[in-house]
Amino acid sequence: MRQLLRSTPVGRLLRRVRWALAASAEPVGVGRLSLRLARGVAETGVPGEWVVRLENHSRRSWPRSGPGAVALRHQWVGLTEKPAGPAVTTALPATLLPGDWADVPVAVTPPAAPGDYTLTWDVTAGGSPVADGPTESAAVHVAFARATDIDYHHVFRTADLETNSWWVVGAYHSREEYARSSAARRGMLVEQGLTPDSRVLDVGCGTGQMAMALEGYLSDRGAYYGTDIGREAVEFCRRTYRRPNFHFDVGGMTTVPFPTAAGPFDLAIFFSVFTHTFVDESALLLAECARLLGPRGAVIADVIVSPLVARGAGHRGEMRVNRDHFLRVAEAVGFRPKLIAVFPWAADAERLMLRLDRC
Ligand SMILES: C[S@@+](CC[C@H](N)C(=O)[O-])C[C@H]1O[C@@H](n2cnc3c(N)ncnc32)[C@H](O)[C@@H]1O
Repeated sequence: MRQLLRSTPVGRLLRRVRWALAASAEPVGVGRLSLRLARGVAETGVPGEWVVRLENHSRRSWPRSGPGAVALRHQWVGLTEKPAGPAVTTALPATLLPGDWADVPVAVTPPAAPGDYTLTWDVTAGGSPVADGPTESAAVHVAFARATDIDYHHVFRTADLETNSWWVVGAYHSREEYARSSAARRGMLVEQGLTPDSRVLDVGCGTGQMAMALEGYLSDRGAYYGTDIGREAVEFCRRTYRRPNFHFDVGGMTTVPFPTAAGPFDLAIFFSVFTHTFVDESALLLAECARLLGPRGAVIADVIVSPLVARGAGHRGEMRVNRDHFLRVAEAVGFRPKLIAVFPWAADAERLMLRLDRC
């Protein structure tokens, strides 16, 4: 009944008079913020509506405009506890009298880098944060916007691989750059123990960048097994790399198509593959390698790591992982990780080349 009376025009007027008499020494900060519509997941740069309830428990009006205007403020904070972008202020829909509340719809734009963030909310008065004012926060997983995702099946199906084999699998600007990268990767593998007699498993072989590098390098005692989820890419490799000890087959998202008897392999390589798979898929592919590698065998793989990511964030176009989480996952499926090299990638991410030894 009391509540009902409070919401009538007479009730509001009485409150206004009462609080106006009591008021001016009262701090703005007495109030409550609560999230009526929060979004636990979001996409980079794609705005979504949040609804925040603001309750004025103080004895003062909270003006919508003017020098002492009260406003809502939000800010993204990354896992590293650094703010990710500027604080954004939203005006109240109307002046809030003491005891009043309003549900404020706010268009919130997530940060540009995927990751695991906290979205913090508080109140400002006259443009400054209110000490001891109401605050609220929510955890938000920010993924890459889907429009930039990759469908490799579509990519391979629609490409002319005879002319575009070097272009479809990465950001290479020319066939020569693709060939240089292929030779450089072979050099790195030699440093990691590759010999002409090695048995190599290439998961996510694409259009054969490493088959090209190894075709003239491996002896007849060595062997190369390439697999990819892209049937067209595998068929292209079969047509192009025809040595009898070179084998290609279509794999599943989390399975390698070769029987255990095809091993044991000395090296399993994943170049630019875990940069496109979800962490649980990467774990299952590593478990397949544990099946196929010899006891002294190793995986060589690159991953994109970001301190803004708790586990993994991204999509098939680009997956970023938390470094420690990925290393723990690799250990859980039977590998001892070692860092080979670090490459710059983006403002908040770098690319690691890892060696994972059987343990
Ligand atoms: C960026 S390309 C790199 C190709 C090749 N490794 C290279 O460096 O040129 C990524 C490749 O991984 C393949 N791929 C993605 N997910 C895969 C999975 N779960 N198993 C096997 N191949 C996969 C894609 O079809 C694509 O050919």
